[in-house]
Order: sequence, then structure tokens, then C-alpha cells
Amino acid sequence: MAVDLLLGLQWGDEGKGKIVDVITKQYDIIARFQGGPNAGHTLEFNGIKHVLHTIPSGIFHTHTTNLVGNGVVIDPVIFRKELDKLAPFKINVKSNLLISRKAHLILPTHRLLDAASEASKGKAKIGSTLKGIGPTYMDKTGRNGIRVGDLEMDDWKEKYRALANKHEEMIHFFNVDIQYNLKELEQEFFEAVEILKELTFVDSENFMHEAMRSGKKILAEGAQGSLLDIDFGTYPYVTSSNTTAAGACTGLGVAPNTIGEVIGIFKAYTTRVGSGPFPTELFDEVGARIGNVGKEFGATTGRPRRCGWLDLVGLKYAIRINGVTQLIMMKSDVLSGIEEIKVCTAYQYKGETISHFPYSIEPEVVQPFYQTFKGWKADITAAKAYNDFPKELKAYVDFLEENIQVPIKMISVGPDRTQTVFR
Ligand code: GDP
Ligand code: IMO
Ligand code: MG
Repeated sequence: MAVDLLLGLQWGDEGKGKIVDVITKQYDIIARFQGGPNAGHTLEFNGIKHVLHTIPSGIFHTHTTNLVGNGVVIDPVIFRKELDKLAPFKINVKSNLLISRKAHLILPTHRLLDAASEASKGKAKIGSTLKGIGPTYMDKTGRNGIRVGDLEMDDWKEKYRALANKHEEMIHFFNVDIQYNLKELEQEFFEAVEILKELTFVDSENFMHEAMRSGKKILAEGAQGSLLDIDFGTYPYVTSSNTTAAGACTGLGVAPNTIGEVIGIFKAYTTRVGSGPFPTELFDEVGARIGNVGKEFGATTGRPRRCGWLDLVGLKYAIRINGVTQLIMMKSDVLSGIEEIKVCTAYQYKGETISHFPYSIEPEVVQPFYQTFKGWKADITAAKAYNDFPKELKAYVDFLEENIQVPIKMISVGPDRTQTVFR
């Protein structure tokens, strides 16, 4: 009767979508609990590459129910496009995809507010995906939001109008040049809402309780990563939800004592998209090489991701906050051919060496301290077992496990479902 969690431990894009797809066969239900279409989760199988934004990554398995939980924010327009892309796969979304009535809606004006807020910040911008995430969560906590359940009420369009009018005033307040045609955006929005209404809305906390009572196996799929968490991330360069383990409890209505395994996922190096400090960032040809070989471009915005070495200070911080019980290392193949691989094991912080994650990791206060490892030349993308790995990669894995004290149970060697080595 446990709910397992799968969480990104860095700044997102660790490969959550791929792994959820790989392990879905062990679960009856896959549930998203936070974030929205700022997420881009990539799955590859049978020569097809698919990117999901709001829909859980278990959707391609017919035996699985996929739930969009109360903690998620949904943009009906993007949701509709996701459904359109799924159409060729003949998935029965009416029965396999459930939506929480308590999930909040992203309105067209939330997206405009996101753009206005970012434009007004100039150089200090967050680097938001501009999907309206921040403004939607602001309306949620400000108790002004419109929820999926409201769409079943007669007066929801009046609520919508009042909120959209208020947003328009706020957009003017920002005093920046944002071009838009609200009539067109609203037409697209209202049409998409009608498509959303064809799906099955549920009281999702009740659905989860019943599922647990009847012994169903549930996996909660995180979006973003721990260092983007609204409380524990590199604030203000974060997203607007709790991406960490506790977010699964509030985002699905499941109690802490129902959580089973906490599966933490990290890349063999680090990436970040958007603004904010990144102590191990590389500005040289090695960083460029990781970006090229790893195809490090945002799955949602197409922006190039900043690349750097693995940061164990940040990783261990994330492991502690989440109570991670097992790890998965992704994109190990991307490091093949690099002569020397570095790992940050501590920070120099105000003249001291520290191994905890401090309040600020801005470059003027934190410099990374590295340990260097010999790289490997072999192509590992066809490896099927741990013993197929070169000794240098095994030494890298051994060092990480020894340092982190949490077992690495899977090592990913390519984007395809089959390129996954279990230990
Ligand atoms: P998510 O947001 O955590 O689901 O991750 P994204 O899908 O945004 O980014 C991960 C990217 O890496 C996607 O393009 C995946 O297809 C790709 N990927 C996942 N695992 C591996 C791997 O082990 N090796 C390589 N080369 N690519 C991978
Ligand atoms: P997945 O689930 C990587 C980043 C944005 C920006 C900051 C705030 O694919 O791992 P927001 O749009 O949430 O206001 O942006 O967070 N960000 C992500 N970075 N992966 C994601 O999701 C992200 N979702 C948001 O780039 O820096
Ligand atoms: Mg992503």
C-alpha cells in the first residue's frame, strides 16, 4: 500500500520521463503531483520520440491509469495539443487519464503576466518557461484561482472574466511592451476547455485512497528538480511549486506514512536551463561537448541548457531533503571520450571548505572543489549489464556510491527505453 516517488535531484531534465516509462510496468497508477507544462518529459521507444508536458509518462502503457493530481497546474491549450499528439497511439484517454478537480487552470492572462513580469525584471529575469506557472500558483495561494472542478459549475465564465480583467490591469501595471490579442487567445482557451471537459474529472485524493486500499501500486512522477524547489531551491531562480518529496503528499493528498521508495534521478554531470547560480558550470570546450553529445536543449522551450560537472554538494542536499532510498544515474554515455572527469565534492565558502549546501551559492561566495577521475573511451550505448562497463566508469560509480551512501540501482546509457542497465 505504498506510493513510490520518482524525483529529479538537480535542476530538472534529469531523464524522469524516460525512467517513468521504463518502470511503469511495475505500477498500476502513475500520478503527476506538481508543476505544469513548464515540464518537458521525453520518452523514446520503437524509434519514436515523444515529449509530454502535463500528461504523466505512463500513458503509453495500456494497463496503467495516469492521474494529473491536485498540485498540478493545467493549461487547457497545451493539454489539447498533447492529446492531439497522442491521437495516433489510440490511447483510451477517457479511462486511462484522470484529472483532479482540485488542479488549477492556467489562463491565457497568466501566460501574459509571466511574460510581463520577466520583461520587467530585465537582467534579473528568472528565465521562466513563460508558461504562466508563477502567476497561476500566485492565484492559487492568493485564493483567486479557477480549478478544474469549477468547469462543472454554471458560473465559471463569470469568475473567469473577473480574474482575466484583473490580470489585464496588472499587465498594464508592469508597463512593458507585451503584444497580444486577448480575444484570439480566449477563443483558443475556451475551445480547449471543451476538449478538457470530455475527459474524466475525479476527486483525486479519494481516488488515491481507494487505490491504495485495494492494493494498487502507485508511482508519483516529479517534475522539475529539487534545486528548483520553491523553498529549498536556489531562490528566486526556482519554479513555483514544491518539487521535493513533501510536494507529493500535498499534490496528491497522500499521507507521509504511505510513501515507500523514494527514487532519486540525476545526470552523470549537471545541467541548468534559465538563470541562476551554477557553481560547476563549464564555459570551455568540455562544456560545449557535453551539450552537443547530450543534445542538451530544453524539451519545452528549445533553449540550450548550461552544462557542468556533477555537484555532490547539491546532490547530497537533495538526497537528504527527499529521503532518497535509491538512485538512478542518467546520460553516462555522454561522458564517454572525455579524458578527465571532475566531480565537485565540497565548496570553498568564505575562506572555509564546506560540504553542506549554503544559503547562497552565487559565484562570489562559492567556488567548487573538485576531485578528478580518469575517463573512458569505449562507447557504452549498447551495454546490457554492469559488467559490460569500462573499469573507469565502474570506478566513478563506486566513488559516488561510497560518497553518497545510497545505492545506484540503474544506469542509463542512451535515450531509448532499452538503453538502461539494472544493478
Ligand atoms: P525530464 O524532464 O527529466 O524527463 O528530462 P528531459 O526529457 O527534459 O531531458 C532528458 C533528455 O535526455 C531527453 O532528450 C532524453 O531523451 C535524453 N536521455 C535520457 N536518458 C538518456 C541517456 O541515458 N543518455 C542520453 N544520451 N540521453 C538520454
Ligand atoms: P522538467 O520537468 C528544467 C526552470 C526554468 C526557469 C525556472 C522557472 O522537464 O525537468 P517556470 O517556467 O517554472 O517559472 O521557470 O525553472 N524550469 C525547468 N528547468 N526542467 C524543467 O522541467 C523545468 N521547469 C522549469 O527554465 O529557470
Ligand atoms: Mg525536461
